[in-house]
Amino acid sequence: MTEILRAEKLRKQYQMGEVTVDALHGVDLAVVKGEFVAIMGPSGAGKSTLLHLLGGLDSPSDGDVLLGGRRLAHLSDDEITVVRRREVGFIFQFYNLLPTLSAAENVALPLLIDGKRAGEYGARVDELLHMVGLDQRKNHKPDQLSGGEQQRVAIARAFVNDPKIVLADEPTGNLDSKAGTAVLELLRRASREMDTTVAMVTHDPGAASYADRVVFLQDGQIVRELTADEGELGRQEIIDAMAELEL
Ligand SMILES: Nc1ncnc2c1ncn2[C@@H]1O[C@H](COP(=O)(O)OP(=O)(O)OP(=O)(O)O)[C@@H](O)[C@H]1O
Ligand SMILES: [Mg+2]
Repeated sequence: MTEILRAEKLRKQYQMGEVTVDALHGVDLAVVKGEFVAIMGPSGAGKSTLLHLLGGLDSPSDGDVLLGGRRLAHLSDDEITVVRRREVGFIFQFYNLLPTLSAAENVALPLLIDGKRAGEYGARVDELLHMVGLDQRKNHKPDQLSGGEQQRVAIARAFVNDPKIVLADEPTGNLDSKAGTAVLELLRRASREMDTTVAMVTHDPGAASYADRVVFLQDGQIVRELTADEGELGRQEIIDAMAELEL
């Protein structure tokens, strides 16, 4: 199994005036190609920070990230930008759509930024909007879409560049259970059928049960992992682990 993503002794400190916030201290994590990992833990545990570092959106205070075998610490900012644009899809906690662009244009944005022309990606954008059930909302601007619809646009956008890795922060947090299930099935299908690696932050044990592995983060450290040996992780198994950890 090919390792595609690795965090080595990852630390992140935020300096807030006099106060130092130790958001991550010493996180080691290796993820193989096609694996679906869920990251759980209380608010403030460092989950979003970890996801940002894994995707090269922010740089660690210490330690390193290997993305597709490349050490991000060895790359220039421009090189990291290209890796991120071509190989990583992000689904953020707060959708991060551009308000002046339509749903279709938001989905196409990563390709546009990468210098592709509209004629080259129209069909791909339509396919993705169909996949998230938004065929009828192509021309809507974000403020003309519900929260769940905006999230689905963000999900379609994350897949538009056929990423090797999708990093998702609470992708189902604002969705009803039907839309949430569709998103989770989509992520699982991407990992199983397209060999896309998925790392997803979630508070929901039901959502985490879609993953092959659950990593529990507490106070900036991994405190426990659950792996689906054969078949699937059970929601109850995850709830029991959370109770044991008093999360
Ligand atoms: N830009 C920043 N500047 C200073 N402190 C930050 C910054 N971003 C995060 N932190 C702090 O780092 C810690 C970890 O934050 P992070 O956003 O990673 O938590 P989280 O696990 O994603 O929480 P949540 O479940 O609430 O989204 C928190 O204590 C937070 O206050
Ligand atoms: Mg967060």
